[in-house]
Amino acid sequence: MSTAPHPSHTPRPDKHDPSTLAFATQSVHAGNTVDEGTGAVRTPLVMANSYLLPDDPSTMDWSSADGLVYTRSSGANQVRLQTKLAALEGGEDAVVFATGVAALHGVFFTHLKSGDHVVVSDVTYEAVWRLFGELLPEKYGIQATFVDVGDLDAVRRAMRPNTKLVHAETIANPTTKVADIAALADIAHAAGALLSVDSTFTPPPFYRPLRDGADLVVHSLTKYINGHGDAMGGVVIGAGDLVGPIRGEAMVEVGGVISPFNAWLIMRGSVTLPLRLRQHFASAEKVAAFLEADPRVAFVAYPGLTSHPQHQLALRQFDGAGYGAMMAFAVNGGPDAQNRFVASLRIITSAVSLGHDESLIVHVGTTGRGGSEHYPEPFRMFGHLRLSVGLEDADDLIADLRAALDATFPS
Ligand SMILES: Cc1ncc(COP(=O)(O)O)c(C=O)c1O
Repeated sequence: MSTAPHPSHTPRPDKHDPSTLAFATQSVHAGNTVDEGTGAVRTPLVMANSYLLPDDPSTMDWSSADGLVYTRSSGANQVRLQTKLAALEGGEDAVVFATGVAALHGVFFTHLKSGDHVVVSDVTYEAVWRLFGELLPEKYGIQATFVDVGDLDAVRRAMRPNTKLVHAETIANPTTKVADIAALADIAHAAGALLSVDSTFTPPPFYRPLRDGADLVVHSLTKYINGHGDAMGGVVIGAGDLVGPIRGEAMVEVGGVISPFNAWLIMRGSVTLPLRLRQHFASAEKVAAFLEADPRVAFVAYPGLTSHPQHQLALRQFDGAGYGAMMAFAVNGGPDAQNRFVASLRIITSAVSLGHDESLIVHVGTTGRGGSEHYPEPFRMFGHLRLSVGLEDADDLIADLRAALDATFPS
């Protein structure tokens, strides 16, 4: 039996340019084309390490990512995913990696060299803290200054003639501090530096940092963009002249490439991104309000609460689209109370990661985490629980939290 398309098939007109379409349409169609070999209307999973060479390959550049040659430089599924993610984030180009951390490393490895200086938010995902606090300075002579990016004067003061990069998270992991991306872009650009933004907590269409002046946007695809907790990946998106070198140096030559299967899973997961985000955000707002109203809860940090120090900034920057679905809180008492509370939960799962369909909670200790001395006072006093609100019914989540509070504080 032939595997070619049906013989009566006539070529269809080219698909719309995705950039002219609404986000929901893009999240279905961007990067997906009819497969020429089989006629399949979905991009097939191509589990191949290498592709047929041209008749004379002897003059080929083996490090080039142009064309399909070898999956470390350009596998079919990773190329489609890159096309899709560039369209969703509104960037010219995208390069995908095996994990979010590999994507972050790709930015730093490519755009920094020995003797360069970086201004980095004093609250970031822990691996970034370790990269700039220890590994990149010690191994490669890159200097870093950690700054409260909420204090724009402090950011300005930290800039040096050799500052090449400012790096921040839109909503910081784990404190939920919101960074003013347009203001940081102005400061970075006035000093001739780039702004890279980890937007993992704020995927498109919720927020697009490139529109506010960021040069490079990074996502851990492991989180909301895949959304199903079954694949790891990372992406860097931005202008072609900034992303191209990351592809050439960090992806091809260092090799932290995504597997075709993970690229395929993330491509599939991302189709429902706008629907999922709506549900995540609506539930998170209800859950945060419930927690803040309960006197057995010591504090809640969630940008949607008016008590959050950057609530007004979040409202303005995210244009009323929501406040994300990540929050930090603690119950009254010390580490034992936090552990008893987590152990009493029956729906919310104690596990790392975030942005999955399933709600996840982590008891983060009071000390010993990279940068934890910069956490706000209540975090240091009580420790905290990082909650990723999933896609379960919000009332079920609230009932689970209430029952765990009752079990932790028996009357
Ligand atoms: C904000 C943020 N950036 C990056 C990462 C790293 O992503 P990955 O685990 O896919 O390497 C994480 C992981 O939790 C994260 O929360």
